[in-house]
Amino acid sequence: MSVDVKTPDEIEKMRATCRFAASVLDYIRPHVRAGVSTGELDRLCHDYIVEHGAYPAPLNYKGFPNSVCTSVNEVVCHGVPGPRKLGDGDIINIDVTTIVDGWCGDTSEMFTVGEISDDARKLIDVTRRAMWQGILEVGPGKALGDIGAAIFDFAHERHGYAIVDRFCGHGIGREMHMAPQVHHVGIRGHGMKLRPGMTFTIEPMLSQGSSHCDILSDGWTAVTRDRQLSAQTEHTILVTDDGFEVLTMRDSAWRPD
Ligand code: MF3
Ligand code: CO
Ligand code: CO
Repeated sequence: MSVDVKTPDEIEKMRATCRFAASVLDYIRPHVRAGVSTGELDRLCHDYIVEHGAYPAPLNYKGFPNSVCTSVNEVVCHGVPGPRKLGDGDIINIDVTTIVDGWCGDTSEMFTVGEISDDARKLIDVTRRAMWQGILEVGPGKALGDIGAAIFDFAHERHGYAIVDRFCGHGIGREMHMAPQVHHVGIRGHGMKLRPGMTFTIEPMLSQGSSHCDILSDGWTAVTRDRQLSAQTEHTILVTDDGFEVLTMRDSAWRPD
């Protein structure tokens, strides 16, 4: 499948939608508190997005019923927002995909409620660092497999977490999900070679126990089969002439020192 290379004008549109998607994470942060339901978080994000003249890409995407994904604790990804209320010690991923002027930006972040366990804190920390290990591989001439290899080495070999490889990152542009698939495990030097102007996401999912998932009866919500904790973070990345640009970066975002 062919992978498109964006023109400078298209890259500007990608920057705008990605910057906006990232701003939704800043907007929602103070609302992530004990007692709020994931459905309320979804509604807040939905209203913020449409009030800014944008559109939430997940809404009605292949039948997805809501505007963001809210993945709590054992939920790996694609959590369908609803009546579940957050409580002290919960961890939650909120995954925002916006459409601005016809272009998609996709980013997600982990949020915590009250006091979380040391195990949960470590899982989130390793997840963010693992995503960045992948990002730091990106540049012209590098292979897609370099990204997965770096993430797997760090998250699994070094820290012992499972990587859920059933879901992967993806090319992004006029559509949310485009070629190529960006696996979070890989072999160095294998897979497509990266070229300046390509845009794709890196969004590893790490679990404390096994990497096996089940899909709940809503047809979307993916949970760890052993119901242990899972975490994910996501950025949309541009391949530049000399490396990468994190299109969904925001001042408040975690970054490696
Ligand atoms: N934002 C998700 C991703 O990172 C996709 C959400 S699609 C939905 O790819 F239908 F599940 F919402
Ligand atoms: Co994505
Ligand atoms: Co996403």
